[in-house]
Amino acid sequence: MSARLLLVEDNAEFVENLREIFGDLGHEVRSAGTCTKARELALGWVQVALVDLRLPDGDGTTLATQLKEENPDCEVILLTGHASVESAAEAVRAGVWAYLIKPCTVPDLLATLDKAIRHVQAQQEKRELSRRAQVAEKLAAVGTLTAGLSHEIRNPLNAAGLQLSVLERRVRKLDASLQDPLLEPLTLVRDEIRRLEHILQDFLQFARPLNLTVKPLALGPLLQKVVAFISTDAERRSVSLEADLSNAGSVGGDADQLRQVFMNLLLNAFDAVAEGGRVKLSVESDGTSMEVHVDDDGPGILQEHLPRLFEPFFTTKSKGSGLGLPITHAIVSQHGGTLTAGRGPLGGARFTVNLPRATPGRR
Ligand SMILES: Nc1ncnc2c1ncn2[C@@H]1O[C@H](COP(=O)(O)OP(=O)(O)OP(=O)(O)O)[C@@H](O)[C@H]1O
Ligand SMILES: [Mg+2]
Repeated sequence: MSARLLLVEDNAEFVENLREIFGDLGHEVRSAGTCTKARELALGWVQVALVDLRLPDGDGTTLATQLKEENPDCEVILLTGHASVESAAEAVRAGVWAYLIKPCTVPDLLATLDKAIRHVQAQQEKRELSRRAQVAEKLAAVGTLTAGLSHEIRNPLNAAGLQLSVLERRVRKLDASLQDPLLEPLTLVRDEIRRLEHILQDFLQFARPLNLTVKPLALGPLLQKVVAFISTDAERRSVSLEADLSNAGSVGGDADQLRQVFMNLLLNAFDAVAEGGRVKLSVESDGTSMEVHVDDDGPGILQEHLPRLFEPFFTTKSKGSGLGLPITHAIVSQHGGTLTAGRGPLGGARFTVNLPRATPGRR
């Protein structure tokens, strides 16, 4: 049961010892010598923090409160060399998991840590299950509703689009001086109709059960095609799109659906970055799976938005439908893979698609 641990302590030797012990147990460990650094490293990552009561730029109890506010699932264990009734009472008020007095024995520390980890992971599991149940419920409702509605909307929308083309053709036959003031609103209406068609397409895809044709698939050429397809879009928006596909191997997958997955993630990344922004597509692989990262240097994802990203209709865009990520998530799940979101190395968001490798021998 490995966990993500943060050590906040300015005694380098003590940190090194603990790092080694926790590392040997398979935990991921980060360490910080100050409160400021600790909050930075903890954000969206920490599960259990071990915090010294006295730190160069503040006290551990205040830090514990902040860490718990900023990372609602985390637990804090306070360590102190100078125990007092007051500091213990304060620690209880701050909601810390445990209060240990140094020097404490390694087995004591590990036993406390183990309980805290179990508690945090059980809480996270519970939250994840209830989130999934909510999403599943919404999806089911959306599915039946949209199938009917989309159909009803599609026909009149097609008719409107056709009539608009007729109108446009007639306008183009007029004198040039008359054309311009008429064409401008026409173009706007045409763009809006396109947008509706796009949303409708998303809706329909949602309503239809996904029909996957899973075959061994070389990820490199597939991603290359996506990049080629989307690069005009990148240019138009002055976004620099890099791709490092050197590690791409084969996965078991449906080419059409996976293309859509990466298109959705890249388009979101384009939306997130400003003009002149960077978007990077890269692949990592290990024995059992392929990980495709889509990184950008945009503003990243707000902590409070993270749990809602894959919910249908969650959007922060004035013209978004909020279906891109739920569809993407559904496709990836159907491939037996996972889709995760967080902070990336370019400073903005990182979306990672993890897909099982193609079964050996079937390549
Ligand atoms: N790379 C990113 N950086 C920051 N926020 C992102 C990023 N990708 C997605 N988001 C957030 O997730 C929300 C949901 O994304 P999703 O793709 O589901 O819908 P959308 O892009 O808003 O609309 P559409 O249906 O057109 O895709 C976005 O509105 C945005 O707030
Ligand atoms: Mg989107």
